[in-house]
Amino acid sequence: MKKIFLLLLMILMVSGCGSETQEKTPAPEKKSAEQTPAPTSSADKKILVVYFSRTGEEYAVGNITKGNTEIVAEYIAQKTGADTFEIKPAQPYPDAYEPCTEIAKQELESNARPALEKNIDSLAQYDTIFLGFPIWWSALPRVVVTFLEANDFSGKTIIPFCTHGGSGLANSEREIKDACPNAKVLDGLAVVGKSAQENFPAVQKDVDAWLKGIDK
Ligand SMILES: Cc1cc2nc3c(=O)[nH]c(=O)nc-3n(C[C@H](O)[C@H](O)[C@H](O)COP(=O)(O)O)c2cc1C
Repeated sequence: MKKIFLLLLMILMVSGCGSETQEKTPAPEKKSAEQTPAPTSSADKKILVVYFSRTGEEYAVGNITKGNTEIVAEYIAQKTGADTFEIKPAQPYPDAYEPCTEIAKQELESNARPALEKNIDSLAQYDTIFLGFPIWWSALPRVVVTFLEANDFSGKTIIPFCTHGGSGLANSEREIKDACPNAKVLDGLAVVGKSAQENFPAVQKDVDAWLKGIDK
């Protein structure tokens, strides 16, 4: 009888120890699909900011050492973690404003394709491309059209932004769609060029609000 009692006592003690051990080392939690956040699409996408911008004498701002569009482009790149590429013509435009407008007018009238100083090496790796430019004669500067036609934008998303002296985006979005028929072109942002130089905080606010509203 005493042996049976001892045996029962031992069984109780062993099973008691077991449950204590289980409490101390809980089984690893299984993560449900809900707990593991799916990667957000924009986080996976590789973004590029391409821009054309001119320095020198400019409308409403005098002589500038950093172009209006470049200022906006750099801010967008900083906010989105994008790489940047600057479109440069092989033959630089004059620093003086009037001569530059004359050349730009001739290029527009003859639908010229001014040569690029160099093309981008690897556009293929980018999904989303912010495209920045000044409005010239209510249109894209022709060198920007050269760049668009020199690269394959099929399946990519293009997000235009311009700086201007009063025309807004004018014909530029239509021209981008025509040059890149297989790209998705989102609604663009128009920034008054002078604000980029003289009221940058206001530009930052506009860009921030615009970036929030677009599906990059
Ligand atoms: C050749 C040329 C043509 C321009 N044509 C226009 C125009 O048609 N409408 C407009 O609002 N601004 C026009 N502007 C003003 C520029 O769009 C504006 O100053 C822009 O912010 C310049 O940007 P950037 O410094 O990046 O080159 C023109 C400027 C130049 C140099």
